[in-house]
Amino acid sequence: MPSITLQHLQALKSQGEVFSCLTCYDATNAAAMEQAGIDTILVGDSLGMVVQGNSSTLPVTVQDMVYHTRAVTSANTHALIMTDMPFMSYATPAQALHSAQQLMQAGAHVLKLEGGAWLAPTVTALLQNGVPSCVHLGLTPQSVNVLGGYRLQGKTKQAEAQLLADCDAVVAAGAALLLLECVPTHVANAVQQRYPAVPVIGIGAGANCDGQVLVMHDMLGLGVGKKARFVHDFLQQAAALNPGASNLITEAFKLYHSAVKAKNYPQPQHAFVLI
Ligand code: KIV
Repeated sequence: MPSITLQHLQALKSQGEVFSCLTCYDATNAAAMEQAGIDTILVGDSLGMVVQGNSSTLPVTVQDMVYHTRAVTSANTHALIMTDMPFMSYATPAQALHSAQQLMQAGAHVLKLEGGAWLAPTVTALLQNGVPSCVHLGLTPQSVNVLGGYRLQGKTKQAEAQLLADCDAVVAAGAALLLLECVPTHVANAVQQRYPAVPVIGIGAGANCDGQVLVMHDMLGLGVGKKARFVHDFLQQAAALNPGASNLITEAFKLYHSAVKAKNYPQPQHAFVLI
């Protein structure tokens, strides 16, 4: 299998084909994702919650992300590997470059940052230094204390206009990818159509994004707390379809990959539609 690059993702967007993305934090699951053909892996700072047991992503450090990025890249040569820049590791462009050096040297291909227009100088500085970026907008978990909880974003006309302005600024600055979390479908659709060369990855952002991502633990039915509307348990489905399978986790990853590719996931019940 060839290694997936940003150029592959751009080509898929222009052909109207969707790509799959899952979070991953370790070598064993990274190898299973390679077997399943997953296109993109996010070494997400959600590891602070699902691996480290914290109540938010804020305690995660650059060293944590380096450790998990090394583990994932050691076992997967197919997927494009995107790593999260953790909380406060990119507060200034200079700090972002210092953090980025460690994360890219650990094997990441793309770095993800949470924020909006204020990130534009950082996105440009990263690009000038050979680091492509994905900007995460909508529900940005590192700002949970500002947002007041993990809830739907971009609900009002004003919030939608702000989100589009933020996307315009980071795309003009050179962002390679956008990631939208928990926004109404019509807002995600507007972003997806706005930038022909910038693939948009969605989580709780409807069916029309160029890529779909889920937290691995959630799609294996291992999530803690209240299940989000957009989560589907692919492990349960894999068990029902393959009662005798010896490796149900790999089967669940395969099922997710083919459901995303065939546009069978997400379904309308996984999306936020305002009425
Ligand atoms: O860290 C993470 O897992 C993420 C996803 C929720 C997109 O950012």
